[in-house]
Amino acid sequence: FVPLLGGRRRLSYSTWSDMAEEAKKLAGYAAVNNHVKNNYVVGVGSGSTIVYAVDRLAERVQQENLKIVCVPTSFQARQLILKHGLPLSDLDRHPELDVAIDGADEVDSSLTLIKGGGGCLTQEKIVADCARHFIVIADYRKDSKCLGQQWKKGIPVEVIPMAYVPIGRDITRRFGGEVVLRMGVSKAGPVVTDNSNFILDWKFEKVHNWKEVNMAIKMIPGVVETGLFIDMAERVYFGMQDGTVRIR
Ligand code: 5RP
Repeated sequence: FVPLLGGRRRLSYSTWSDMAEEAKKLAGYAAVNNHVKNNYVVGVGSGSTIVYAVDRLAERVQQENLKIVCVPTSFQARQLILKHGLPLSDLDRHPELDVAIDGADEVDSSLTLIKGGGGCLTQEKIVADCARHFIVIADYRKDSKCLGQQWKKGIPVEVIPMAYVPIGRDITRRFGGEVVLRMGVSKAGPVVTDNSNFILDWKFEKVHNWKEVNMAIKMIPGVVETGLFIDMAERVYFGMQDGTVRIR
C-alpha cells in the first residue's frame, strides 16, 4: 500500500465548490495510490470525481512506469482514458478486473450506494461486478446515515424506452413516491443512455428494505438495471473538508 496523500492539511478555498473539488481529488488520488498495482486491469467509473482518479492513474503510469489496462464504464470514461493515452480495453478482452474505481451519489453506513446521477449505472454495475475489488470515491457530501438523506434526486432506474410509463406506474403503485422521466438539459427530450435507453428517477418517500426493493424493481419487464449498488463496494474513500481522507 502506498501511503495516503498528505494527511491533515490546512486548506483555504475561495468557494464551496472549490472545497468539494479538492475533496474529490483527495479521494480519487488516495484510492488510486492504495488500490492500483503494476499489471492491473482497472475499471474506470464515470462522473466528475473519477476525473481526478484518472489524472492520478496517468501520473503513476508516467512516474512509476506502471503497466495497466483500463476498462471504461461509459462513453465519458472511454474519452478520459483515451485523453490520457492510457491503454483501453473492454470486457471481451478483460472479463476479470483487478479493481474498479467509481464515484457515487450517496453512500450509507453499510456501503449501499445510489449511483447513476450521470446515467451510466448499468455499465458501472457490470464493470464493478467483474472486479475483484470495487472501490468508491466521493466527497464528504455523499456520506449519509441512510439513503435519501443526501441525494434528493431519487434512485435512477434504466429502462427500455417503450416501457417507461408502465414501469413508472408499477414502481409507485408498489413502493409509493414519485417517478420522473429524466430529461436532457434543454428539456427538449429525455436523456438517452449509452445503451440507448431512458432513465427514470424514483423519488422514494421512506426508507425501504433496499435488497427487496432492488430485486422487485429488477423483475419488472423492461427494467434494465437500478442505481442501487448493494453489497458491492468494498471500501469507500471520502475526501473531507479538512483535507483528510476518511475510509469506510
Ligand atoms: C454516473 C455515476 C457517478 O459515479 C455518480 O453520479 C457520481 O458522480 P460525481 O463524481 O460527479 O459526483 O454514478 O452514473
